[in-house]
Amino acid sequence: MSTQPRLSMRDVAEMANVSIGTVSNVVNNPARVLPATRERVLEAIRTLGWTPNQQAQALRAGRSRTIGLAVMDVANPFFADLLRGAQARLEEEGYGATIGDADNRPAREEAVLRSFRDQRVRGVILGPIAALPREVEALHKARIPTVLVDRAEGGDACTVGVDDVAGGRIAAEHLISQGHRSLAFVGGPTTLAQVRDRREGAEQAAEAAEANLLAVSVPSLDFTSGRSAAEHITMLPVDERPTGIFCANDLIAIGMLQGLVAAGLRVPQDVALVGYDDIDFAAAATVPLSSVAQPRRELGRSAAELLIQELADIDGGLEHQHRTITYTPSLVVRASSARV
Ligand code: RIB
Repeated sequence: MSTQPRLSMRDVAEMANVSIGTVSNVVNNPARVLPATRERVLEAIRTLGWTPNQQAQALRAGRSRTIGLAVMDVANPFFADLLRGAQARLEEEGYGATIGDADNRPAREEAVLRSFRDQRVRGVILGPIAALPREVEALHKARIPTVLVDRAEGGDACTVGVDDVAGGRIAAEHLISQGHRSLAFVGGPTTLAQVRDRREGAEQAAEAAEANLLAVSVPSLDFTSGRSAAEHITMLPVDERPTGIFCANDLIAIGMLQGLVAAGLRVPQDVALVGYDDIDFAAAATVPLSSVAQPRRELGRSAAELLIQELADIDGGLEHQHRTITYTPSLVVRASSARV
């Protein structure tokens, strides 16, 4: 039985009349190849039916084609959407992805990153819980670049985030514009820069409007925290109870909504409510929730794009300049904060 000679990258290069390096770039870093050249090479690959044995290729090159994605809480729809955006962009470049959930626990986050290092992933995208884990330094020493997401400040890494001070400010300004002068900010843990920034923005808006802002700290960014904060707020004397509440994320706001309604209060008639993230559940809430929207999939895509560029610079022996991308959040107004 005659066997077809094993096709190689050289055969593709000869058919497309390019160098082997160009074929390698089309497979590994297509963004570095002119579109016309890239299409000519892809046509040759299709015509010959050649498939790059990526794992063998990666092993020969001594490196993986897998990216590690680690986030604070994979059960939170904010991070699920962010992961989807990152994964979609990585797949366009032929990278695989392995996902690690920190489950809101720094020790777990360290273990996830250590596991990525042991797997020799090609790079890491990290949505850190709070302070940068020590393991990020170990990844750096192992020449595994890490891009930070959901953080505003850069440090020694590419970073993608949202201007959370602006986000907090537009949430409080909206409640003030609806006539509220007794506000509350519900958020935590304060170890999170994102939470501190959102509270800072709300405090700026309240001070500018000479409105009161009650800060209610909660241990976590989840539904249970919203419910417990609602119990605290609804037990306040009526004349001390805020009439406009801004929650640090939508899960807290949905828990708050349920707690307010369970206490017999009407939203927005008795208390107006604004969340943060604009996850799909915000619009689907019993009283559709106003929320400060974060571009969740774009955050993921941008983090992946920055990592792809950093890896291309490393592969090309080019000096890499870390970049910081900061998105401006926008307010989505729904029934929970309508003027009554
Ligand atoms: O909902 C999860 C929250 O944690 C988001 O607001 C995100 O910014 C992170 O801080």
